[in-house]
Amino acid sequence: MSAITTDTLMQIALDMAGMESIPGDCGIFVPGERIQRILVGLDIDTGDLLLAKQLGYDCVLAHHFRGTEAELTGWQVYQRHIDLMVAAGVPRMVAEEAVYERLDLLRVAAHAANYDRVSGAARLLGMPFLNIHSPLDELGRAAMQRAVDELLRTNPQATVAEVAAHLSATFKEFQAARTRVAIRLGDPDAPAGRVVVAHGALTNGGAAVARAYFEHGVDTVIYIHIAPQELVKLQNEARGNLIVTGHIASDAIGINIYLDELERRGLHITTLNGIVPRR
Ligand SMILES: [Fe+2]
Ligand SMILES: [Fe+2]
Repeated sequence: MSAITTDTLMQIALDMAGMESIPGDCGIFVPGERIQRILVGLDIDTGDLLLAKQLGYDCVLAHHFRGTEAELTGWQVYQRHIDLMVAAGVPRMVAEEAVYERLDLLRVAAHAANYDRVSGAARLLGMPFLNIHSPLDELGRAAMQRAVDELLRTNPQATVAEVAAHLSATFKEFQAARTRVAIRLGDPDAPAGRVVVAHGALTNGGAAVARAYFEHGVDTVIYIHIAPQELVKLQNEARGNLIVTGHIASDAIGINIYLDELERRGLHITTLNGIVPRR
């Protein structure tokens, strides 16, 4: 009999990501124990919970937190952009300034969310349910940054296009997804220079965070997605290179690293709705 509980599932993710406490964009909404079969989705709604019940799963795991209590505190994780920027050499004052406006918008918007829409249904069904967001994105960020650093170690003159191609070649998720890694800003044939993967901080940092990197020694920023209006701002400034790797494909990279570990521990995993297969 499996000794795995929803707490264990969360703790494994925190340990793998090097995090000490549960971030605001994660939560255990219906605790469960003796878990063996898990249904995992990028987004989970009430229909998915019913599907899990009907198909005999012990637990449902979501990546995103829509419709759960984590809606109320998820905005806090946007502050991770500050740590990522400071680690890349952006002065702390500049980094804080770059997140301030969006952080406030996210905080105010969170107040309007229906935080009980999906987790309430899970409680009614008695279906163990949790979501794990930034720890898995951190695994994906670290893996992508390692891949880029490895390329630049062997080829310091690698171009923006070569960095994009290397990511596509390294991760099966990019090959399996229906989107391609895209260069949205800058010259594909220019040297990539210093490259930062800015991911794992709730959502992309928009123009403000990319600009802070560009103005402090980073030549190429990698986001997994960006809003079109934020991209237009950067295009008007004509500075720096931006590679966008694709939301679904890139989320799957971190999620799959974690799911591989769960399978090593003997858990039975089924994925649905947008988790690009890892093999
Ligand atoms: Fe994600
Ligand atoms: Fe996502």
